[in-house]
Amino acid sequence: MSQSFDNLVHSRRSVRKYDSHAEFDHQDVADALELALLSPNSSNMQMWEFHRVIDEDKRAQLAEICMGQNAVKTANELVAVVVTPHNWKQRAEMNAEVVRKAFEGREDATSRAALKYYGKLIPFVYRNDKLGLLGLGRKLLSAFVGRKKPMVREVSKEDVRVCLHKSAALASMTFMYAMKDKGYDTCPMEGFDSVRAKKLLGLRNSDQICMIIGCGVAAKDGIYGERHRVSSSDVVKSH
Ligand SMILES: Cc1cc2nc3c(=O)[nH]c(=O)nc-3n(C[C@H](O)[C@H](O)[C@H](O)COP(=O)(O)O)c2cc1C
Repeated sequence: MSQSFDNLVHSRRSVRKYDSHAEFDHQDVADALELALLSPNSSNMQMWEFHRVIDEDKRAQLAEICMGQNAVKTANELVAVVVTPHNWKQRAEMNAEVVRKAFEGREDATSRAALKYYGKLIPFVYRNDKLGLLGLGRKLLSAFVGRKKPMVREVSKEDVRVCLHKSAALASMTFMYAMKDKGYDTCPMEGFDSVRAKKLLGLRNSDQICMIIGCGVAAKDGIYGERHRVSSSDVVKSH
């Protein structure tokens, strides 16, 4: 059921109630997630996980954790998009290895820069899990260096958190469009008790849930209102 991208964007709505009689193939979620994995993400670190909640009993438990929202109660499947700050080292090494392979036998400035990026800069930014004070130091250092030349300022633990959530949100969007393209509806949600949700999904302490996405086929009354957006002239600025 492929449609033009315009149609796809116009037809996707956050659906709060799903049709319990409609057909739902869980394999389609798996296929949509494969597409989501191709989303752009910061430094190709792919610090995300996608937790599929299919089991009926688990879905019911998650519905309570999501404040009893209909979009969870009536969904055929839920996907929790999770950011995983712990695996930066493995991912940096993986990317460095990819660079090494790509440039095998022809070491040049580009490959040296890429290796330096994954070997030095990425650890500088990401190795901040428990270093609150050092994070502040890094921020001061970047402000100092930044007086002389342009540089990326977002290097604190909080900044990394934002960075991970940006990438996870892009993957979420790809997933939701892919689901729409396959004839399904979705609802992204942040209205949940993160402590309980993490426990239910068996996540690590450091993991954070970016959003939980309800999936199904819209019931007749599944869309709660007309779509409303502020005018583009209020928010689109040209320079
Ligand atoms: C990060 C995020 C969190 C959201 N959380 C919820 C939620 O907890 N419950 C809900 O019903 N909708 C939630 N929504 C859906 C928005 O309310 C919805 O996208 C918005 O009203 C625009 O409607 P549309 O998606 O139909 O265009 C969320 C959307 C985003 C992007």
